Amino acid sequence: MKCLSPSILSADFANLGSQVALMDEAGAQYVHIDVMDGVFVPSISIGLPVIRSLRPVSDRIFDVHLMITDPDRYIDAFVEAGADLLTVHAEACVHLDRTIQRIREKGILAGVAINPATPVGALECILDEVDMVLVMSVNPGFGGQKLIPYTIDKICTLRGLLDRRGLKTDIEVDGGVTLDNVDLVMDAGANIIVAGSAVFGGDIRSNVESFLRRLAAQEES
Ligand code: DX5
Ligand code: ZN
Repeated sequence: MKCLSPSILSADFANLGSQVALMDEAGAQYVHIDVMDGVFVPSISIGLPVIRSLRPVSDRIFDVHLMITDPDRYIDAFVEAGADLLTVHAEACVHLDRTIQRIREKGILAGVAINPATPVGALECILDEVDMVLVMSVNPGFGGQKLIPYTIDKICTLRGLLDRRGLKTDIEVDGGVTLDNVDLVMDAGANIIVAGSAVFGGDIRSNVESFLRRLAAQEES
């Protein structure tokens, strides 16, 4: 199934609760929450208390993208705060298999993310163990960047690899996705679409509805 996961990094933090409620009402199935530690990526964004405060606002899937070093330290805390899907970066985990198992043991969904310059092949051994692969289509750290074209080929390669193994694993694409290139990333094989500035830069409800129409059209084709 094709789903939209608006990234709240581009939301108005002074009105975060009402903006999340709005995207939920408009039909977005996921809430993409970018957690940055100022070490793995240059920025510091939001963390546990914000997720805890948002939890009562929406029943949608809280899709927590951890851009932090050594994420094992915080798995329990993010699960308790309300994460439904916890994604760690392959580049940030020395023992990726153990980290993924720890997330799964907590009874939530586990995702693994790769930066643009990390090859899909780096995930070959872990593919059977994850619920989702997040392909970064920009260098992580900031919203509002342009999609790096070669990452589209990576999505194709990954979907091919999953198909050959008979896996229906979700592929999430994150960074620089707009209404102009969303068909391209879905054609390549992505089925969970993150969009930050393209949703929150303007009328949230109508932007979510426009994305959902495109996702539905692809679903039918
Ligand atoms: C980048 C984040 C993205 C970002 C997406 O480090 O992981 O989720 O907020 O924002 P846009 O859609 O504006 O590129
Ligand atoms: Zn993200």
